Amino acid sequence: MNTPLPSPPSTGLPIGLLAELTHRCPLACPYCSNPVALEGRGTELSTYDWKRVFSQAAKLGVLQVHLSGGEPAARRDLVDLVAHCASVGLYTNLITSGIGVTEKLIQLLADAELDHIQLSIQDSDAESADKIAGYKGAFAKKQVIAGWIKENGFPLTVNAVMHRANITRSAGMVELAMSLGASRVEIAHTQYYGWALPNRAALMPSRAATEMAVADVEALRKRYAGAIIIDLVIPDYHATYPKACMGGWAKQFINVTPSGKVLPCHASETIPDLEFWNVKDYDLHTIWRSSPAFNAYRGTAWMAEPCRSCDRREIDYGGCRCQAFALTGAASATDPACIKSPSHALMTDIAVADSRPKTYTYIYRR
Ligand code: SF4
Ligand code: FES
Repeated sequence: MNTPLPSPPSTGLPIGLLAELTHRCPLACPYCSNPVALEGRGTELSTYDWKRVFSQAAKLGVLQVHLSGGEPAARRDLVDLVAHCASVGLYTNLITSGIGVTEKLIQLLADAELDHIQLSIQDSDAESADKIAGYKGAFAKKQVIAGWIKENGFPLTVNAVMHRANITRSAGMVELAMSLGASRVEIAHTQYYGWALPNRAALMPSRAATEMAVADVEALRKRYAGAIIIDLVIPDYHATYPKACMGGWAKQFINVTPSGKVLPCHASETIPDLEFWNVKDYDLHTIWRSSPAFNAYRGTAWMAEPCRSCDRREIDYGGCRCQAFALTGAASATDPACIKSPSHALMTDIAVADSRPKTYTYIYRR
């Protein structure tokens, strides 16, 4: 490539890389954060290309690789990829639905020196969990798989995405995670990107239920201190200030899609006019420093008011670019989750309207 490269804003090094090995998945969760248009099997990077990406990531200073999907176990080369990551010194975390994972695969992953497994569970109530996953029997299968994970000595995190159907069961989720031997549970309120956006009216909990759920988690942290770590991803639609999405755009994380596109965040393709570079064309170091998509909202120089002069601008980096675009049509706008945003009332209105009691049907990804 002979295109002159733009000079990069000053930047540190990425800590983590999310490798979306495939978008194929046996589940159909209505809050799936993957894009509405999935990348097909025929476009997936080869084993050779993924290994090249992992070697470049290690050289760049990345410490952790999160092997995700879709369902990463759908890749036949998963064990080979894990072994390669271990050989170049990367800490590996497998993010799995568990469906399609066999006991033999767990043993092989242990031999390949996988470091950690994160298992998604849709609810502590079996019937509800299967309905959310769009897969009958998923809940029961996950209990068995959690057993294999522990028998093979892996540290286990349970990931639970919370929304209207399960928001009253934070305690049930934490207790289920403890009974499965998890050392950590992530209670993550739904983020409305990707497939979650068309399902927003079916997923949005009320403000009262949300506040109660956040208070429940605080109480659970005290009750189970020392027994399990409880992480909380806060719900944006009822917030006063936004979260520092991705820890700041292009500040800590790299996301590689199944076909090799490199994104500053998993939902950033929802923002039009961003130019994403591909690992087939550029090495990861060049992409991290010079990709137009990475430099578009890196740091604080791109900010307009009220973020530009706000004393929280290096705390939350203006919130989430994808959410700002989804709700205002301008990715450079202040995240409407922020009380200082001129569009904050719009977000509150959506939250109130979408959370009204109603009979809902999920739109599954089929
Ligand atoms: Fe964060 Fe911008 Fe809101 Fe300030 S104005 S709190 S920087 S989103
Ligand atoms: Fe993309 Fe927040 S999801 S910046």
